Amino acid sequence: MKNFLILTAFVSLLTTTSSSASKLSKEDSEIYKKIDALIPKMSLEEKISLIHGNAKFYTGSIERLGIPALAMSDGPNGVREEVSKDSWKPTDWVNDSSTWLPASTALAATWNTDMAYSFGTVLGQEARFRGKDVILGPAINIHRTPLGGRNFEYMSEDPFLIAQIVTRYVKGVQDQDVAACAKHFAANNQEWKRGYIDVLLSERALQEIYFPGFKAAVRNGGALAVMGAYNKIRGQHCCHNDYILNKMLKQNWGFKGVVISDWNGAHSTQEAANCGLDIEMGTNKPFDQYFMATPLLDEIKKGNIKEDVVNDKVRRILYVMHKIHTFDKANQKTGSFNTPEQQAAVRKIAEEAIVLLKNENNALPLKIENLKSIAVIGDNATRKHAHTGGSCLIKAKYEITPLEAFQKHLGDKIKINFAQGYIFEKDSLKRQQMLKQAVEAAKKSDVAIIFGGLSRNWNDTTKGYAETEGRDRENMKMPYQQPELIKAVREANPNTIVVLLCGSPIEISDWIEKVPAVVQAWYAGSEAGNAIYNILTGAVNPSGKLPFTWPVKLEDSPAHAIGEYPEHPGMDSGKEVESYNEGIFVGYRYFDTKNVNPTFCFGHGLSYTQFKYSDLTINKKKVKGEPVFEVKLYVTNTGPREGKEVVQLYISDPQCSVERPLKELKGFQKIDLQPGEKKGIIFDIDKDKLSFFDEKTMNWKAEPGEFKALIGSSSRDIRLTQSFKL
Ligand code: GLC
Repeated sequence: MKNFLILTAFVSLLTTTSSSASKLSKEDSEIYKKIDALIPKMSLEEKISLIHGNAKFYTGSIERLGIPALAMSDGPNGVREEVSKDSWKPTDWVNDSSTWLPASTALAATWNTDMAYSFGTVLGQEARFRGKDVILGPAINIHRTPLGGRNFEYMSEDPFLIAQIVTRYVKGVQDQDVAACAKHFAANNQEWKRGYIDVLLSERALQEIYFPGFKAAVRNGGALAVMGAYNKIRGQHCCHNDYILNKMLKQNWGFKGVVISDWNGAHSTQEAANCGLDIEMGTNKPFDQYFMATPLLDEIKKGNIKEDVVNDKVRRILYVMHKIHTFDKANQKTGSFNTPEQQAAVRKIAEEAIVLLKNENNALPLKIENLKSIAVIGDNATRKHAHTGGSCLIKAKYEITPLEAFQKHLGDKIKINFAQGYIFEKDSLKRQQMLKQAVEAAKKSDVAIIFGGLSRNWNDTTKGYAETEGRDRENMKMPYQQPELIKAVREANPNTIVVLLCGSPIEISDWIEKVPAVVQAWYAGSEAGNAIYNILTGAVNPSGKLPFTWPVKLEDSPAHAIGEYPEHPGMDSGKEVESYNEGIFVGYRYFDTKNVNPTFCFGHGLSYTQFKYSDLTINKKKVKGEPVFEVKLYVTNTGPREGKEVVQLYISDPQCSVERPLKELKGFQKIDLQPGEKKGIIFDIDKDKLSFFDEKTMNWKAEPGEFKALIGSSSRDIRLTQSFKL
């Protein structure tokens, strides 16, 4: 009976929303008219050639009908160097470098949707310039475990923050006549066993946590492509998964673009044909032996698969081509590369991403005019990160390191004493020497800045600590004896500042009390060094906020405390199924509800000025007959200098028939205030923002009763609260 109920409820879900997807714009009607006139001219073989790879990053083409190959490229943070036709080997061209954009966690840390649009614009311009039709980004999987090897490439633990950022990122890319490809759909939250791990999770967790980013990319951003994930969900590979691709993405959300497999993510001709895959890429077979190549042709000729499934795939491919003006070159954007505007945009995104985690006794900003010498310490002061991390790697046109920026801006005025401080090698004698040199540098300098954290270089020495595709970290430890280095340098010089370059949380609680200031600087792109310099010297006031919870230790994290996360590499028990037992309680939804204290909370970030929140009012109004709560407040800059503040709105639903998180992010606005300036802010809370996903009716539901609006400067720095009744 229960299953029947779910089925009927599900059908109602489909019918209610799919009709809205059928209203066509005038532009789309025109496009489909052309497409439907073209497809009948194609032979079955020609249609099949369009739906699978004919090179590492290109599909087939139909020259006689003027249909070119679809050109694709990684990745989410910049256009990858050219790769050989049928291997991963770079072609070593001299004109395929690109601007390295800040890693996606940094973009999310800006909490600034205008930065997301600017990010997408740069990415789209350079992709178009390089003749790419599809950029394989944004990557928006949820930070479920701090160990996720690709967390730096993803945005956040919170689906609302992801949804806001990804919407504008996609628009930025697609306004440059390049298709954005939201990946990896869905629940690809770890690298360990990524190719086959079967994720079992509740419908509520899927709908409230793992789907919303993709739904926003498609419904709000208009994403023209979605990449299936390597893993399975409920027993079926995501690259051809009837429930998530056919029923949810295409029928329920009305997705008109193409589903592209992750490379070598397709595993079956029948499923690829019938379960939602449109373009098969990267299969480890000769191009004509791909599951959707000759094997599919044979199945159709035998009558086992209907030709019409191929027609729908071709229709989607041609729709994408029309939308990016493939057939209208006169009106297609031409793109641009490494312009001063793009460099400025990338620097601004990095500046807005940097998070001031701690700042006691105004240790920051540095009073440059009073300094005669600065010790710049740490491997991350000089390490270049762009050309690492896996498929997201970039052959950066340039990459400014922190040391280069300090030398360029201060070299002739202030003595810069550099010491590498730590190395990746196991050689402890060398490490002791490096620590000694760092202490010497700190002793003879007015201030010491340690650039530490992690890197994305995976090798035998760094394995277990490196952040990269294909591997998860094995712990949250801060590697290479950095804690010892930090303590020794702090002993030598009380004016010690730590700058962390990493994309995921690391254990820092054993030294953080000892240093006056700590800054999170991410992998922040080609202009990283300049952005870090501008923040540390106060040229720019930091305004970034953490897009994830920073746990004290791994065991505090829900995926490790109550979830199922497979053993670390080397301890494989052969498990191939993983239950997301924590359900919706991911990130702060878990830490706050279960009262676990993190080192730093979701949404945390300090400023060089202060902000006062006041005059909260909530008024109920009707919009198209539906209740909307207008939440209004004022924010004043009560400090000494201009600054940006991210005002965050969380909703709490204390009276609910199901357990809900203590709070859920449902609004944020980043505002810029001059000293003394006061601004009014309005959030409109509709029923959607009050709803949870009800598994009984398989629909969203806002239960009448009391709700609370919590407004704060972070998820735990709540400044104003007020109840209201639905
Ligand atoms: C990789 C990644 C995916 C990337 C693709 C092409 O395995 O999972 O993000 O776009 O293959 O490089």
